[in-house]
Amino acid sequence: MKFFIDTANLDQIKEAHELGILDGVTTNPSLMAKEGISGDKNVIDHYAKICKVTSGDVSAEVISTDFEGMVEEGKKLAGIAENIVVKVPMIKDGVKAISYFTEHGIRTNCTLVFSPGQAILAAKAGATYVSPFIGRVDDTCWDGMQLIRDIAEIYSVQFFDTEILAASIRNPMHIVESAKSGADVVTCPLKAILGLLNHPLTDKGLAKFLADHKNAQK
Ligand code: G3P
Repeated sequence: MKFFIDTANLDQIKEAHELGILDGVTTNPSLMAKEGISGDKNVIDHYAKICKVTSGDVSAEVISTDFEGMVEEGKKLAGIAENIVVKVPMIKDGVKAISYFTEHGIRTNCTLVFSPGQAILAAKAGATYVSPFIGRVDDTCWDGMQLIRDIAEIYSVQFFDTEILAASIRNPMHIVESAKSGADVVTCPLKAILGLLNHPLTDKGLAKFLADHKNAQK
């Protein structure tokens, strides 16, 4: 399973990259706004900076919601670097745009996916990645992880090539459960990735090893 980081924050992207476990980055308009990035030139420059940190796939989301606008914007984004993946929302014109990008060799990430039916459409259009939003499904008191399992089953029996990118990950257990449920990729906040490190017995064991080593030097 690939690990993407879900942020536009360069320091956090660098920190994850330095761990040696980073396979890519996803962003969205909210995450870009959180970093204070606005205006076409600044957005493009920021994606270029992210693409310099990692050679893994970097999802850059279109803002347009009509087919022509998405195609124009997606082409510009795809021109930034070879590892850019154009992120397109799961709406009617979005499906049309994903089909267009597929025909023209531009890789895509279909975002805002909340049902197996939407995931089937994304795969039929040839999306490189489909992004089911686990946390936001859980927020509505439905089962986000069941969505991953359903999509994994459908893609497996139908031999779809689209990779399942589990998004809206909120905690380390979402990562573990996504791995068990058949996600090809998880995109997570740095905090959730670092949360995987934690175990009190590791801390206790290390303290004992170091204490024993120190005593042996006396
Ligand atoms: O990148 C999309 C997704 O990961 C958003 O997560 O926490 O805003 O639901 P969240």
